[in-house]
Amino acid sequence: MALILGLESSCDETAAALVRDDRTILAHALAGQEAAHRPYGGVVPEIAARAHVEMLAPLIERALGEAGVGLDAVDAIAATAGPGLIGGVMVGLVTGKALAHACGKPLVAVNHLEGHALSPRLADPDLAFPYLLLLVSGGHCQLLFVEGVGRYRRLATTIDDAAGEAFDKTAKLLGLGFPGGPAVERAAAEGDARAVPLPRPLVGSDEPHFSFAGLKSAVLRARDAGTWAPEDIAASFQQAVVDCLIDRTTRAIDRADGATALVVAGGVAANQAVRGALAELARVSGLRFVAPPLWLCTDNAAMIAWAGAERFAAGLTDPLDTPARARWPLDPHAERARGAGVKA
Ligand code: KG4
Ligand code: ZN
Repeated sequence: MALILGLESSCDETAAALVRDDRTILAHALAGQEAAHRPYGGVVPEIAARAHVEMLAPLIERALGEAGVGLDAVDAIAATAGPGLIGGVMVGLVTGKALAHACGKPLVAVNHLEGHALSPRLADPDLAFPYLLLLVSGGHCQLLFVEGVGRYRRLATTIDDAAGEAFDKTAKLLGLGFPGGPAVERAAAEGDARAVPLPRPLVGSDEPHFSFAGLKSAVLRARDAGTWAPEDIAASFQQAVVDCLIDRTTRAIDRADGATALVVAGGVAANQAVRGALAELARVSGLRFVAPPLWLCTDNAAMIAWAGAERFAAGLTDPLDTPARARWPLDPHAERARGAGVKA
């Protein structure tokens, strides 16, 4: 049985975890940076990188302490090598390389998106390849056909903003606070989802791609109209996002022949309205629905350790000169989405 130390530092969460390849999570330690970024209403890359430098080593010690093991018991060290904010990615990857070098252990350079993509298999031992994955986070909104470890076919992506980004911007526009996703969800619970007429960008279009920029502009116009309470705008916005996600995922199911399950991962998967609607879509489509527990949906190191365990088991380790990457698509063959901005 292999024991993997996982490190995560690609955005505003610093984390270390120890996970065995039999799915036992021995320890997971995490430090968020919400308070440091709150005054700016969003993640400041330089502040994030410094916080990772300060927090990562103590978190690794805490995880080892919780698990009651030393580094000698670890079989491989898995660190996020991208994509993400490059300063933070470098902190985690260099730390992983240093530990690997000092302890003579193999390094596994993990794509953060692969961490999200495989995390449902950590939570659910029965989840077999292939499956259709909706990956919805602050930086990404993609539909992926997951064929195996390291084998991803991207069926769709966003042509502008990610869904989580739309939640964060909406929270900012409505003055609901930071981080935006949970704040919008809380406000939406007090509002009427049918109150404000908002667009459903790309709904009904042939390719299952996403677009959320127009929705964000519509939220701004609704706010400035002064007609509706923030709670009603939040509820209507959340419903519009759910409608977009469901329509696009329905389209992708037609292109995911052989999928054993519909799976959701990434920070937005913590949203109960999103989870509920996807569970219902899976039911009517005759697919199993798998959603990791909430703490495993948002950024954490257990998913990086688990992706490391899956790669290690497949014989995939990486040299110590592996670069940190700000951009790193899971499917290198995916074509640019038509009409896409810079975030392909
Ligand atoms: O996966 P994640 O932790 O980090 C990235 O890799 O991006 O996702 C963070 C995103 C943020 O945009 C956050 O607002 C969103 O997930 N999020 C939510 C909820 N919790 C987190 N969005 C909607 N509802 C939530 N409850
Ligand atoms: Zn993430």
